[in-house]
Amino acid sequence: MPFSPKRIAVFGASGAIGSAFVHECLDRYDTADMFCFARSPERIPVHERVESHAFLLEDTEGFNASADAIKAAGGLDLIFVATGQLHSDTSKPEKTIRSLTAAGMEETFHTNTILPSLIMKHFLPLLPKHKKAVFAAISARVGSISDNYLGGWYSYRASKAALNMLIRCAAIEMQRTHQSSVIIGMHPGTVDSSLSKPFQRGMPEGQLMQPEKSAAMLLDVISEVDQSQTGKCLAYDGTEIAP
Ligand SMILES: NC(=O)c1ccc[n+]([C@@H]2O[C@H](COP(=O)([O-])OP(=O)(O)OC[C@H]3O[C@@H](n4cnc5c(N)ncnc54)[C@H](OP(=O)(O)O)[C@@H]3O)[C@@H](O)[C@H]2O)c1
Repeated sequence: MPFSPKRIAVFGASGAIGSAFVHECLDRYDTADMFCFARSPERIPVHERVESHAFLLEDTEGFNASADAIKAAGGLDLIFVATGQLHSDTSKPEKTIRSLTAAGMEETFHTNTILPSLIMKHFLPLLPKHKKAVFAAISARVGSISDNYLGGWYSYRASKAALNMLIRCAAIEMQRTHQSSVIIGMHPGTVDSSLSKPFQRGMPEGQLMQPEKSAAMLLDVISEVDQSQTGKCLAYDGTEIAP
């Protein structure tokens, strides 16, 4: 039976891929209700089936309250995490180990590793126990240790590798109680967004994907994914990325 989620949560719904994913879900699942989270909620797509929530990493009580309310109203069958950071006003991806700073590493790990882990903690229990449900968090191909031939981007690579490990741990634990749930990391391709903007120069023609295309392909993969793939990191074309 095709996967047809009825209650979908999207974290980072203000971002390029996150907001494109919201639109794709609204188009594809015409009765689904969406619960969209962003630290800048005014940038969440507006729609009658979208409920907007503000969230902050530091606000665990806010997480609790939102999770409780959504649980009481019927839980979730798809959770998509599209938050992430490669650079900010205060940190840049390191070309050399000489550029590493504790503050830069902490900021990157907070957004790319700790935030998705807390989302897993509070929201995985909202998935149903006996029918297909999916938790997918956007990771990145550069988080693969075996695929790292270029080096650099120390904090970003390490934060995504750690995220992949946390996803694997959660997948193993969820298998004990939620045999039909699938927990995966995903690589979205190289996508045109504020995150990739400073690094787009010199890219081969045709390699940069628009967020709408990436979101549609990610949702295709989510629709087809099954239990045998839980704990893995899958690319937008469905191929597995080696840890
Ligand atoms: N673009 C690519 O080529 C590419 C490639 C591989 C992986 N990825 C991954 O794809 C995901 C989405 O990236 P994108 O390209 O769509 O970038 P984006 O447009 O910059 O979106 C990033 C999202 O993360 C949110 N965010 C960042 N820091 C946050 C924090 N501390 N607390 C809460 N929310 C925070 C942003 O919120 P605000 O709107 O409030 O800033 C925004 O919603 C990221 O995990 C990224 O690592 C992207």
